[in-house]
Amino acid sequence: MTTDQHLTQLIDLSGATAFVTGGALGIGAAIARRLVEAGAAVTVGDIAVDVADRAAEFGAAGVRCDITEADDVATALHAASDDGRIDILVNNAGIFPTTGPMLDASDDFVARMLDVNVRAQFSVAREAARLMTNGGSIINLASIAALGGGAGISAYSASKAAVIALTRAFANELGPRGIRVNAIAPGIIETPGVAEQMEPLRASGLDIDARVAANPVGLAGQPDHVARAALFLASGLAEFVSGHVLVVDGGSSA
Ligand SMILES: NC(=O)c1ccc[n+]([C@@H]2O[C@H](COP(=O)([O-])OP(=O)(O)OC[C@H]3O[C@@H](n4cnc5c(N)ncnc54)[C@H](O)[C@@H]3O)[C@@H](O)[C@H]2O)c1
Repeated sequence: MTTDQHLTQLIDLSGATAFVTGGALGIGAAIARRLVEAGAAVTVGDIAVDVADRAAEFGAAGVRCDITEADDVATALHAASDDGRIDILVNNAGIFPTTGPMLDASDDFVARMLDVNVRAQFSVAREAARLMTNGGSIINLASIAALGGGAGISAYSASKAAVIALTRAFANELGPRGIRVNAIAPGIIETPGVAEQMEPLRASGLDIDARVAANPVGLAGQPDHVARAALFLASGLAEFVSGHVLVVDGGSSA
């Protein structure tokens, strides 16, 4: 079975507006590309200076947006909306600097992790949900780090566990407004952000190389593996799916 052919036949997002945070690179870019392919009008918000050029490569609009800044978020959501309406939010932007030993972690480090990965993701979801006047789908990027607690990544694990808690709470609150809220928990995916962290992770004592190799399906996780899951959650195929955490890790946490 060729996944591409069947997905494009099953999923038609034409007429939908989508906003993808952190979509200049990595997982966010792959998700934005899949949403464009399915016919959605996609706007990417990212701190990358070349976000407009990168987004244009896959047919999306790109807006400079730091998700921790309320004004940036308002401007980007306005640009992404169709007459004030948003249908799909992919709350993807996140940071994952290696925490290192918890005994050495500073309060500032922990506060910054929670500010970007939790507080800002909450704010973006709230502002987007206000614009989901015709129902919608919110997809939050969590991580399998939320399901365990690896040495060296304590602050990140906690931030992503909070994302899962928010996902479930939002699903309960927003369901009556026709808004589904789900999370994706990827395993290790080959992205620019992960490439930067391999050395710090090794130095922190996490056996990251063993973790990369250890998945039963024997594949290296790619951004498009996550994008295919996001496309499903964004679409009507998932109309009865809300408050769910979809693990996309080749079975590594099984
Ligand atoms: N790659 C993995 O192995 C993996 C695994 C589990 C979860 N995740 C999660 O998936 C998401 C994407 O990860 P990735 O590996 O593609 O990351 P990445 O670092 O490769 O790309 C992240 C993108 O987000 C942007 N960004 C960072 N901070 C931002 C901010 N404050 N405002 C707007 N944009 C911002 C960056 O410019 C970049 O384009 C993150 O939430 C991450 O925690 C990744």
